[in-house]
Amino acid sequence: MTEQKYTFTKFSSNPFYEEITDRLIQLADIQEGGRIIDLACGTGLVTKRIMAHLTDARDTMIIGVDHSASALREAVVELKDAKNSAVVFVESQVEQLSEAIKEKVDAVFYCNAIHYVPDKDTLIQDIAQTIKPGGKFVFNTSFYDGPVPESTLAFYRKWMFKAHRILNKEYGLRAQKSEKVESRRQLNVKQYRELVERNGFQILKEKIDPVKVPLQGWIDISKFSDFIEGSMPGVPFDKASAALRKAARQTFEEMKITYTVRNWLDIVAVRV
Ligand SMILES: C[S@@+](CC[C@H](N)C(=O)[O-])C[C@H]1O[C@@H](n2cnc3c(N)ncnc32)[C@H](O)[C@@H]1O
Repeated sequence: MTEQKYTFTKFSSNPFYEEITDRLIQLADIQEGGRIIDLACGTGLVTKRIMAHLTDARDTMIIGVDHSASALREAVVELKDAKNSAVVFVESQVEQLSEAIKEKVDAVFYCNAIHYVPDKDTLIQDIAQTIKPGGKFVFNTSFYDGPVPESTLAFYRKWMFKAHRILNKEYGLRAQKSEKVESRRQLNVKQYRELVERNGFQILKEKIDPVKVPLQGWIDISKFSDFIEGSMPGVPFDKASAALRKAARQTFEEMKITYTVRNWLDIVAVRV
């Protein structure tokens, strides 16, 4: 079981995911030209969508940054036909952005990854060092502490209960406690706003984007290493993934649903 097999690509190939990304990029209202960082770019979906939004991308340079060498290899292949703008990829921890990228940029996109970092103040201060005054910091996350529809809570509870039961019954395995996972404290919208504003930015726009995620979305997120590790720490990926997928199918069937709503928090801030 290689790391390569459990990248984010399957989930990010879902049409609803591209739509979320497009709405965020539209909200950000970025200018042509200049330099843009796609932070935690993974396998390159956001990079691709940023390029699609630029009518004339020739003067724009996009720098994808991620710590996963296997994800970056996939991103290079995904973007091999990108002829109109310069795209480069840099392997780095997000926490070391200002060391990895010395020249200041016009915008940083940071999609679906801010919730991984425990020390968010230090991270945002470092990102601020990398953005020109007046430049934009744009991020989204669906892992924040906000109101969740009651029907969705029932879905998560049933899904996880079933998944752990399958794991135990079919594979004789149990998930372990993980300090890494437990350190990922979720912030609420106000805390995200304050975090950004006390570290060199002013919020321009803030939006909650409710998204209908069909069964395929939950199946595909169950094939992503970070999600598997977060839900079933310490369990081999193949077994955890199989249990999560089987449980998702059973839960959708039992609840007679065709989607569950998941909220994404979108924030666009400007460097002061
Ligand atoms: C859920 S994926 C999001 C990919 C892409 N930004 C998107 O929205 O489609 C999270 C990405 O963050 C990367 N990542 C997580 N923690 C990181 C860190 N500390 N430094 C660099 N990359 C990190 C992972 O390797 C993964 O590619």
